[in-house]
Amino acid sequence: MSDGAQLRVDEGVETSYPESPWLVMKFGGTSVASADNWQRIATLIRGRLRSGLRVVVVHSALAGISNLLEQLLDAAVTGDYQAILDDIEGRHKELANDLGVDGGAELARCFAELAQLAAGIRLVGEASPRVHARVMAAGELAATLLGSEYLQSAGVANSWVDARTVLQSKPARDSTERSRFLAATCDFAPDAELVERFAELHPVILTQGFIARNARGDSVLLGRGGSDTSAAYVAAKLKARRLEIWTDVPGLFSANPRAVPSARLLRSLAYHEAQEIASAGGGVLHPRCIPPLRSYGIPLILGCTSHPQWPGTVVSQAPGEDTAQLKAISSRGGLTLVSMESMQMWQQVGFLAEAFDCFRVHGLSVDLVSTSESNVTVSIDVGASAVDPGTLDLLADDLRRLCRVRIIDDCAAVTLVGRKIRAILHELGPALEVFEEQPVHLVTQAANGLNLTFVVDAEHAHRLVQKLHGLLVGQFNEGRVFGPTWEQLQAPKASPVAAVPPWWAEHKDTLLDIAQREQSAYVYHRDSVLGAVQALRDLKSVDRVFYAMKANSHPEILQLIHGAGANLECVSPGEIRRVLEVLPDIDRRAILFTPNFAPRAEYEWALEQGVWVTLDNLYPLRAWPELFAQQELFIRTDPGQGRGHHEHVRTAGVHSKFGVPLFEMEELGELVTRANARVVGLHAHTGSGILTPGNWRDTGACLLGLAQQFPDVRYLDLGGGLGIPEKPGQKALDMAALDAVLGEMKSAHPDYELWLEPGRFLVAQGGVLVAQVTQLKGKGEVQYLGVSTGMNSLIRPALYGAYHEIVNLSRLGEPATEIVNIVGPNCETGDRLGSDRLLPVSEEGDVILIANTGAYGYVMSSHYNLREPAREFVI
Ligand code: LLP
Repeated sequence: MSDGAQLRVDEGVETSYPESPWLVMKFGGTSVASADNWQRIATLIRGRLRSGLRVVVVHSALAGISNLLEQLLDAAVTGDYQAILDDIEGRHKELANDLGVDGGAELARCFAELAQLAAGIRLVGEASPRVHARVMAAGELAATLLGSEYLQSAGVANSWVDARTVLQSKPARDSTERSRFLAATCDFAPDAELVERFAELHPVILTQGFIARNARGDSVLLGRGGSDTSAAYVAAKLKARRLEIWTDVPGLFSANPRAVPSARLLRSLAYHEAQEIASAGGGVLHPRCIPPLRSYGIPLILGCTSHPQWPGTVVSQAPGEDTAQLKAISSRGGLTLVSMESMQMWQQVGFLAEAFDCFRVHGLSVDLVSTSESNVTVSIDVGASAVDPGTLDLLADDLRRLCRVRIIDDCAAVTLVGRKIRAILHELGPALEVFEEQPVHLVTQAANGLNLTFVVDAEHAHRLVQKLHGLLVGQFNEGRVFGPTWEQLQAPKASPVAAVPPWWAEHKDTLLDIAQREQSAYVYHRDSVLGAVQALRDLKSVDRVFYAMKANSHPEILQLIHGAGANLECVSPGEIRRVLEVLPDIDRRAILFTPNFAPRAEYEWALEQGVWVTLDNLYPLRAWPELFAQQELFIRTDPGQGRGHHEHVRTAGVHSKFGVPLFEMEELGELVTRANARVVGLHAHTGSGILTPGNWRDTGACLLGLAQQFPDVRYLDLGGGLGIPEKPGQKALDMAALDAVLGEMKSAHPDYELWLEPGRFLVAQGGVLVAQVTQLKGKGEVQYLGVSTGMNSLIRPALYGAYHEIVNLSRLGEPATEIVNIVGPNCETGDRLGSDRLLPVSEEGDVILIANTGAYGYVMSSHYNLREPAREFVI
């Protein structure tokens, strides 16, 4: 393994201390949690030693341990905590085993102390901030004991140092006890004594991040992400030549690479830019680590522990460029907004001072501010500032003496970071259209021109970042500022093909044949569809499955799915007729009709056909009660909370037109009785593309509650909406977990039949759209790859910003080297099937495959531009 690559990047990096022998290396929790990484760490350290440096290693607790310690704190207050203690100890033992060490007596003492602390918490029934800090500190102490012993055994002689003898917290004005213990700050002025002390030790020193002591000698914590800050403090105190921070990504990116795979590595940044990116929620680096480095001119180099050969990010004094440029788009959740409204604040001296004093009194640090004549809105980072529960209510009470107050929870800040952002505002014009649909609560522009921030509801943040990134950053060429994309770094140097090849890779030749004949085509794979039906039939808790045929109504698919044991859910007479045509002998009670705002005649007709009929409004019962006399009905309810992959597919809550709201249930009961009908089934469908099993548990709980009002109810239809993984790395819906939550409901209420009515889940992955490459175009840095069909066949990307994996089927397995936008032939800018995709160099006539298009593909196609949509084939 090479250890030279990372050294290369600091050639020519300006440092205040070119002669300093000290180098600080910080490793995060994932970096220190595996034996493979420890071997890499040892190699990296040896390389530094050979260059004549003395190395101080600062590291975090093993990945996952801090969370377990938090859980331990909660469990110890209320109940049994032994299992968590065992888990913590077990994970350390496992790593010790892999490293071939045992942690020695020190580690045993550390766990014994942890057990005593937990027992103490159980006894007194609470964990004071002081005890909280001691419990959390155990994670770092235990990890560094293992690390030190391993390095020793690998021939890297080192001294283990307790960080609490190195860093001391300083008293903070107006701080609470909680923040003094859990989010402390320390002095970092150069410390000759420390240099002297360290110089007497081994040339490698190992110490903990995140922890320090206070003036009384108690353990304190440096707050979330505190290990980066520890490392920066130590670097400043030692006047180190540089600080290296090693994590599981190689550096700072133009967006969070886990959320936006086309995010670009940022090769070099000035301190203030890195600080802005980190503060805006970069996640890789803690913003508090920058000021100590900036104060003393110590460069920071970021690298990836598991791939030390990857290029990293260098953060140093301004790397001498002055042009306006957008560098990153970040988002940061966990914000609460406080909006203060008063007509009197206009030209009233001292209003702001008084209002802000209330924040000071409650120990709340204000994050973003926007003001107008009658409104001041501020954000508070509740997650980062260790806010006591209840504090916000107290704050609101105080503020109400001055103005009207509104607290808006669950917000996220989406920030554009760069240089002289103001100078490029005009370029942002088209990108700002993405805010058209989302309520923006607050906009701020930093006076230093480094950032422009929009605060939106947290649920919209991810999509906004993706869109803005695609529009504003994705297209830049590699150069001094932008490096490769996360996808490029990660990708095995070939087109993406999953570990288990998807069905379409195995049927490549057939698909190429069809595409060459047809220009473009939807192709469905029988076995995949059958596999999906089986996965649902395997759910022991579900009594019946109704396939929502709106997802794909191809006759053969209907036969296949019904043949495999599923019933059918229809939303129009057209769909029912299609079923009756294709499956003439079907039991009419295997069809469920779920219309919405349909005319009277449709209900009349459906009832004549003998299918189950669902009402989702009081209107039909009020206006046409005679239709429903003697009928057994389903009622679609609106449980109040919608879910799903896009606003357009969330089908509950006041903004959705579906379902009877809960507050109308009583009246509904009366109308049903008056019409002389009976409610035998309750139904709710909260939305589409949901990957959390809890959705169906919540829906079930809601329906069970309602069922008390309707004694004839036998069936609970929990709707569809089961999502599929769309993006690389996205986790599939956990079917076992779904079965478990529904199983609990079923065993508690065995009298009800549980139904599901999925569409997408059964057909999405079994279908692909293939199309031929028509033309190529390069507009400066943006490359377009045209294909023979577009939004007329597949409207999901344009309508929902949906992501479909796209590959060049003709060149499957060839190196993917080009970033392109895949567009269709329709006359609309939105006629784009994918943005910023990494593909092999493609040519006219190549076949492009768009995956996961078996659901809501053909059924939503159109003849727009009088272009025939792709035809359907089943293989
Ligand atoms: N049940 C009802 C009452 C529904 O409204 C729907 C879908 C389903 C079941 C099936 O949902 P699924 O399991 O497929 O998520 N065109 C959008 C999806 C719209 C879904 C409409 N209702 C898309 O392409 O994502």
